[in-house]
Amino acid sequence: MAVVLGTRPEAIKLAPVVRALEDSPLFAPVLVNTGQHREMLEQMLRRLGLTVRHDLAVMRQRQQLSALTARLVGGLGELIREERPDLVMVQGDTSSTLCGALAAFYEHVPVAHVEAGLRSGVIDDPFPEELNRRLVTRMARWHFAPTPRAAAALTDEGVPASAVMVTGNTVIDNLLWARGRADGRSAFRGGRRGLLVTLHRRENQGAPMRALADTLLRLARRPDVEVLVPLHKSPAVRDVLLPALGGHPRITLTEPLDYFDFIATLAASFLVLTDSGGVQEEAPSFDRPVLVLRDTTERPEVVRAGAAQLVGTDPGTVYAAATALLDDPVLYGRMAAARNPFGDGRASERIAGALAHAFGRATAPVRALDIVTAG
Ligand code: UD1
Ligand code: UDP
Repeated sequence: MAVVLGTRPEAIKLAPVVRALEDSPLFAPVLVNTGQHREMLEQMLRRLGLTVRHDLAVMRQRQQLSALTARLVGGLGELIREERPDLVMVQGDTSSTLCGALAAFYEHVPVAHVEAGLRSGVIDDPFPEELNRRLVTRMARWHFAPTPRAAAALTDEGVPASAVMVTGNTVIDNLLWARGRADGRSAFRGGRRGLLVTLHRRENQGAPMRALADTLLRLARRPDVEVLVPLHKSPAVRDVLLPALGGHPRITLTEPLDYFDFIATLAASFLVLTDSGGVQEEAPSFDRPVLVLRDTTERPEVVRAGAAQLVGTDPGTVYAAATALLDDPVLYGRMAAARNPFGDGRASERIAGALAHAFGRATAPVRALDIVTAG
């Protein structure tokens, strides 16, 4: 089996699946790093103890989607022809995910899709991830959906129910594993209420990100607040945030945090403002409210559960939402108390079990996650 990953979130969300597969005598997963990300992924692979067999090293500075896609499909196609895996596993909705599935499809190798069925309903938002995940659905044979809503989206599109399993999100598996190790350190200076901010989405780059930076400056005027922004490596992000936010006494800009330190920072935060998918899935596990800095969401479960608000990027709206949470303990308490709708930390076990069954290597069928979510 080949497990394809290329970006930071794929490493985080596939690490527990790889651990589950390696724990089983039935599988010998071969990890393929497309190298879509470099430093951010290498940092993660090291910390999560993942050993890759192949590294396609495709990343270029300020890479364009079309050229990236061409390098990915070419490299992955060649590799799949050489390795002839009996299955290719991909996760999520990145370019590496799409191209892993496409290259496997072209070589007649079946595809397993982890975190299947997320839908915003808007084909170009998030861009290009919504299209990527829809295309992967058309190519995959096994669809591991994190929530019942995601599973329903797949069956509504005609995927046979027998090919879909609700597993929970593997991000929770990894979080629980990391929490058990508890060796991270918060990057907040302390003594104030910490706003943890991450921003990177393509649709937020440019004017929306400049507006968000202004809003963060406005929030940092409050003496009770400390803002921390671990910066994505993307130059499109740094070009905006470094000049806008650098040098402020209550704003800290850092390199991407080590995963364990990020978890500790999340736990030490008061409020999370983010456009990241993974971060909004993690924050409710620490009872931290989330303001989602996007116009659409493919994760309405967390909003419906009451743990997050979808606020977009309008400066007035974001400022008002953050201020309300800083000043209204009842509202804050309500959001903080909402439960995490993304599973019980056993998604990877279910995925490994389902694949063992599918390949005739285990007789007992695996029970899907039986969760009651607000989503
Ligand atoms: C990609 C994914 C997005 C995911 C995000 C996770 C696609 C289409 N998008 O974002 O879904 O949420 O990763 O972070 O696949 N860079 C470095 N070093 C790194 C990583 C990036 O220098 O370790 C720089 C490079 O200049 C690169 C740029 O950042 O060109 C953007 O990287 P890219 O993978 O293209 O990011 P996104 O598409 O924005
Ligand atoms: N993360 C991290 N260090 C950081 C910022 C984020 O380890 O400085 C982790 C975080 O725990 C989450 C993941 O990276 O699981 C989110 O990745 P990203 O925001 O790059 O991608 P997305 O989830 O939006 O696809």
